[in-house]
Amino acid sequence: MYTPTPEDRFTFGLWTVGWQARDPFGDATRAALDPVESVHRLAELGAYGVTFHDDDLLAVEPDRAKAIESFKKALEETGLKVPMATTNLFTHPVFKDGGFTSNDRDVRRYAIQKVIRNLDLAAELGARTYVCWGGREGAESGAAKDVKAALARYKEAMDILCQYAIDKGYQIRFALEPKPNEPRGDILLPTIGHALALINELEHPEMVGLNPEVGHEQMAGLNFAHGIAQALWHGKLFHLDLNGQHGTRYDQDLIFGHGDVKDAFFLVDLLENGGYDGPRHFDYKPLRTEDSEDVWVSAAANMRTYLILKAKVAAFRADPEVQEALAASLVPDLSLPTLGEGETIDQLLADEKDPEVLAERGFHFTKLNQLAMEHLLGVR
Ligand code: GCO
Ligand code: MN
Ligand code: MN
Repeated sequence: MYTPTPEDRFTFGLWTVGWQARDPFGDATRAALDPVESVHRLAELGAYGVTFHDDDLLAVEPDRAKAIESFKKALEETGLKVPMATTNLFTHPVFKDGGFTSNDRDVRRYAIQKVIRNLDLAAELGARTYVCWGGREGAESGAAKDVKAALARYKEAMDILCQYAIDKGYQIRFALEPKPNEPRGDILLPTIGHALALINELEHPEMVGLNPEVGHEQMAGLNFAHGIAQALWHGKLFHLDLNGQHGTRYDQDLIFGHGDVKDAFFLVDLLENGGYDGPRHFDYKPLRTEDSEDVWVSAAANMRTYLILKAKVAAFRADPEVQEALAASLVPDLSLPTLGEGETIDQLLADEKDPEVLAERGFHFTKLNQLAMEHLLGVR
């Protein structure tokens, strides 16, 4: 029942299962993983697809052409799809002050070249989304970065990339991934809201949306499901990174649901019932304590947790007591326009309300929340 199939459209970054668990304090605890093995293992586990950074393909084969060839062969053998690709603009020392917004113009030019090289491959492999995570676009010191100029350069880079995709006839859209900090002290486009605002300034706003990550909004103390709902409302949820996080601390990239499970429950509810039809993409890191077989246990855990939550959400929605509680809490009434059809503002003003009377109504949200808790905890 909780066994994934490709119809569930679960996808994984090669860099997730392939993470060797190097951190700022310690060396790698696992050997490099061949992307070919990842493709086969993920397919066996029931995944739909893989995603990658340009450099992920070179994990064990430094020759790019050869690496691409064996990756493509593995895709053919397994039927795994590549719905998304992205660029590593953060590992190499050249990006220490960023890619699109480095103070060094030559670095900015190199960063765009690097993206375009992998964009060509992404389009060839049929990817429909190209993610831009600007992990190094930021600063540690107020004096070091002219933020307004940096945003102008961010816009310029996105405009160039959109124009390139148009010129080439690629069926690909870009998705910005917000993050508040880490690895930079402060990263530009720190939240969903900041990224949405930048998109409005672009030459081709219709080609650019978001790839929000659960943990990144939570690092900023924000409610991820609310952010996702707003992205959906703007028509900008092009893709997303599912994982787990415990509150406002370093980026944990835990297995989906292994952080704030209640937020994960409401997120799955929103994704399943709120009009998102893209892949369910996991961007997590297998714990540093785990060995190379545990990695696959962790990959499976993401998908199984999602499917368990999906079943719990369906049971929650189908429960007659929940439906009654939703009605008692007036949740469906929020979809009614505040003005009646054809009603004028004068008519609205004439409809006098007594705030003392209105204030007597309780909303009964506690009962509703407890019903959600009981479904989540498995007692209903
Ligand atoms: C993070 C980021 C990265 C990006 C990935 C795509 O955890 O800080 O999410 O994992 O998603 O590099 O560019
Ligand atoms: Mn991510
Ligand atoms: Mn992350």
